[in-house]
Amino acid sequence: METTSVSKLLTLFFFTVLFVCSELIHCSVTYDKKAIVINGQRRILISGSIHYPRSTPEMWEDLIQKAKHGGLDVIDTYVFWNVHEPSPGNYNFEGRYDLVRFIKTVQKVGLYVHLRIGPYVCAEWNFGGFPVWLKYVPGISFRTDNGPFKAAMQGFTQKIVQMMKNEKLFQSQGGPIILAQIENEFKLLGKGRALAPADYKYINWAAKMAVGLGTGVPWVMCKEDDAPDPVINACNGFYCDDFSPNKPYKPKLWTEAWSGWFTEFGGPIYQRPVEDLAFAVARFIQKGGSYFNYYMYHGGTNFGRSAGGPFVTTSYDYDAPIDEYGLLREPKYGHLKDLHKAIKQCEHALVSSDPTVTSLGTYEQAYVFSSGTGTCAAFLANFHSNSAARVTFKNKHYDLPPWSISILPDCKTDVFNTARVRFQASQIQMLPSNSRLFSWETYDEDITSLEESSRITASGLIDQINATRDTSDYLWYITSVEISSSESFLRGGHNKPSISVHSAGHAVHVFINGKFSGSAFGTREDRSFTFNGPVNLRAGTNKIALLSVAVGLPNVGYHFEAWKTGITGPVLLQGLDHGQKDLTWQKWSYQVGLKGEAMNLVSPNGVSSVDWVRESLASQSLQQLKWHRAYFNAPVGNEPLALDLGSMGKGQVWINGQSIGRYWMVYAKGDCKPCSYAGTYREPKCQLGCGQPTQRWYHVPRSWLKPTRNLIVVFEELGGNPEKISLVKRTVHIPASKHSSEN
Ligand code: GAL
Repeated sequence: METTSVSKLLTLFFFTVLFVCSELIHCSVTYDKKAIVINGQRRILISGSIHYPRSTPEMWEDLIQKAKHGGLDVIDTYVFWNVHEPSPGNYNFEGRYDLVRFIKTVQKVGLYVHLRIGPYVCAEWNFGGFPVWLKYVPGISFRTDNGPFKAAMQGFTQKIVQMMKNEKLFQSQGGPIILAQIENEFKLLGKGRALAPADYKYINWAAKMAVGLGTGVPWVMCKEDDAPDPVINACNGFYCDDFSPNKPYKPKLWTEAWSGWFTEFGGPIYQRPVEDLAFAVARFIQKGGSYFNYYMYHGGTNFGRSAGGPFVTTSYDYDAPIDEYGLLREPKYGHLKDLHKAIKQCEHALVSSDPTVTSLGTYEQAYVFSSGTGTCAAFLANFHSNSAARVTFKNKHYDLPPWSISILPDCKTDVFNTARVRFQASQIQMLPSNSRLFSWETYDEDITSLEESSRITASGLIDQINATRDTSDYLWYITSVEISSSESFLRGGHNKPSISVHSAGHAVHVFINGKFSGSAFGTREDRSFTFNGPVNLRAGTNKIALLSVAVGLPNVGYHFEAWKTGITGPVLLQGLDHGQKDLTWQKWSYQVGLKGEAMNLVSPNGVSSVDWVRESLASQSLQQLKWHRAYFNAPVGNEPLALDLGSMGKGQVWINGQSIGRYWMVYAKGDCKPCSYAGTYREPKCQLGCGQPTQRWYHVPRSWLKPTRNLIVVFEELGGNPEKISLVKRTVHIPASKHSSEN
């Protein structure tokens, strides 16, 4: 039979099962010690994370089809509270936030869903998925036994569950959702600190609340050893083979098998060799695991200001099997697909029995699964990190490369070895497109009337997020200082005075009397920093304006919701005749956001009274903070597109009013650990790109473009040159596999 007819039949079967489930038989998902049980069948389930807001609805079906073709059974996604409830009681489920459409797309393709509601999600997502307004609910304390927090968390969780029920999306209703998650890595909350009794009370409450919602599918808590029954505790990590659930009657689930790692501005690009990932997965299965999920299978893009961290890049590529742009990444995709096929050949034996373990040498072992009906599957492992081994198993010889596992679905034939990769690396190129960005114009961000337009004043320095409520990355801190004409530096007496500005994060640009004096930045590891630099002061009144810039709110760390952002002080003028002058506690005025943001300069339909100036005429202007705009026609073809922002400094970019994200050409520091898998390297992640900007290319979804006259607007903080921005096409060439086999 042709494969198409087979797949048609399978699809028919799938939909029949769904129909039968919803109308006649009560469908169910349960679990036992071996596996998740769907409609009475124990299953080995292969899952991959694809987060719906990190791609566009136009990309979803293709991504999910590719996931299915790669051998996946389940798509896992978090639910991102802050995009769905931007202000209390106002919901948004449109466009990239159309959760129901995403799940129905998975259903249409014929896969299951693991819905990780959280609603704390971590995920390198702004504020870990919490809406910023939540922090300002009176009396609130996050993720503990606190009335206002629990009420809000329950409200959102219930809302999502009800939406799913209304659309009949739980498997118990015939839908694709087979698992749900409440909370996320609660264990880490106490990192280095003992969990308090209120924390235990909270986690028990969360489990009870979730189970009480009656979804008909099991709930999971990842990295929470105390997950109360019937919630299943699951493992996250690079390796999870040593993990055991907290009760003997729960299955061994791996909710995050890290396929690579995220990147931060100023850091390297991380990769995880597929040999190591495949080894980790095979080892998990051989030790009785029955569900694993690649975090991420497709990472995608942190559009807009959705990246958390702080300092997480706009790209969330993650070195995943499907890259940021939706293209297959080889050899990762193909090798894992081969692995999945081999595992599936063993499914019956795997779910039917516990393995019998036999030693085949110092570092070599056989794990044998035999079902009562005579099926037998074996995993032969060589745990030595750099020596190959020849083992004898059931009177046959097998060669095992170092750090590898061979899978024998019939206990005889070695169909797959985790270290033998038959795919070549895909060759990625960013090629020029035929589309030119034309007629660049510029507009200087107006910093002359900051004090007049400011609506907030205070004695002392205020927290940035308290002022902005995260409606903008930008907050101006403005004050003035009187300098006496008798100061000796005014007569060239001694060194210039300097200013010292301490910030809790994440970046600052310093302006004295309207002139730029310098910038300073934190890092993800150390958000706080101090700017020190000479200042040009004059006799009389001097205006000091500090533009504090947030680069994504934290998403992880002990009570990160309470961390401060922005200038916390001290702010000191040094080198005056009487020593230093402390400006920290004097009167400060504040302006939230940029004038250009208030005027909606990014919108293609915005009516603004702004005079844009032709770029060539504007280049004399010394203003540091500039808006730039240009138009372009969509390039022909259907390759994914990116902006090459290599000529720029730091800022944000929009196309037709949609935010592509933050950009920053900050170079990756340090020495990279090489990624060559030359037999001795056994770290789960290696590094690339040291000495280059962490992210030079920024994904432009095709569906955001019109055929002609697309508007690009850039806000640039560091004087970059927009005339060199170009639109490129991402192309991938996948060389033939090393030795043939059907795919
Ligand atoms: C996990 C967390 C995920 C993500 C990941 C790192 O600990 O559960 O949400 O943050 O780390 O990418």
